[in-house]
Amino acid sequence: MTNRDRIDRLRKNKDLPDEDFLALLEPLPEEDLAFLRTSALEVCRETFGRTVYLRGLIEFSSFCKNDCLYCGLRRSNTRADRIRLDLPGILACCARGYGLGLRTFVLQSGEDPFFTDERLCTILSAVKEAYPDCALTLSVGERSHESYAAFKRVGADRYLLRHETADLTHYGALHPAEMSGSARQDCLFDLKALGYQVGCGMMVGSPYQEKGHLLSDLRFMQRLGPHMIGIGPFLPHRDTPFADRKSGSLDETLKLLALLRLMFPRVLLPATTALGTLDLMGREKGLLSGANVVMPNLTPAGIREKYLLYDGKIGVEDQAEKCCRDLKQRLEKAGFEVSVCRGDAPDWSAKEIK
Ligand code: 5AD
Repeated sequence: MTNRDRIDRLRKNKDLPDEDFLALLEPLPEEDLAFLRTSALEVCRETFGRTVYLRGLIEFSSFCKNDCLYCGLRRSNTRADRIRLDLPGILACCARGYGLGLRTFVLQSGEDPFFTDERLCTILSAVKEAYPDCALTLSVGERSHESYAAFKRVGADRYLLRHETADLTHYGALHPAEMSGSARQDCLFDLKALGYQVGCGMMVGSPYQEKGHLLSDLRFMQRLGPHMIGIGPFLPHRDTPFADRKSGSLDETLKLLALLRLMFPRVLLPATTALGTLDLMGREKGLLSGANVVMPNLTPAGIREKYLLYDGKIGVEDQAEKCCRDLKQRLEKAGFEVSVCRGDAPDWSAKEIK
């Protein structure tokens, strides 16, 4: 079977036998990658048309109790400048975002014990009360079932928690011993059972990653059935043990985006900041490979530059307004229509939204 046959079959069946996925996970000749990306773009357009959804990202704490080997916010990085936004600071970000037309806010932070369930619930309630027409996405890492339930009750609609890698041995090579890949996966199933729209995802080209690990990622996602999938290239950060590792590649990331679009035609798939950092046109290329979400940064200048997961992060010195305006212009130029509605997952029934 040729790669084209495999791609056509994946498009039709949304699945392939292991050996065919593994063949597609090998470096592909340029024409096969182009065919894969075009197929993914067509499938995306069948469901979403030219629409790209925007989400306003608010990075409200750069404190983290975890020590992930790849991440610039890891607790062992004593050179990281740590900062937190308080509730008025967070509401000010939302106000700016709302003024720019954004109707989804993503509250993201390191795993910061300062933000107890009670504090987070206060924040979520206040944001939801001020912006009842907006979707609230939370991304604060691993918490208990009870905590997730409490966040849901006060208005969190969606939750992002990347599984990072579905292979537990590989997970062990990227994280300290006290962290567990299976605990993380359990969190995702918990979140789904609680009725969240759930996002998982992994880095592409992380240290020690093999084709088989990516296949495990695809199989894991088939079991989970996520509403959103966040993937981006691994990018080294100078103050981490992986400082000297090489970045994930653009083509591999675009390939994974395209494969995911063919497997999950209705999933919300962001073209991430990491992809835009790796390549000046990375996000546009991602959108032309099946991605359909972009997340402009609403974190205020002065704080944004302290939230550095990897070196070279783009948009660090831009103001939210400029960041949003530029992005809209660029996307429209590339042939997309920018939507600022909530943009819930298409399989999500409105009656489930409070
Ligand atoms: N390169 C790319 N992505 C990273 N993340 C963390 N550190 C890096 C890095 N060095 C990703 C992880 C995490 C998300 C918030 O950012 O996947 O879940």
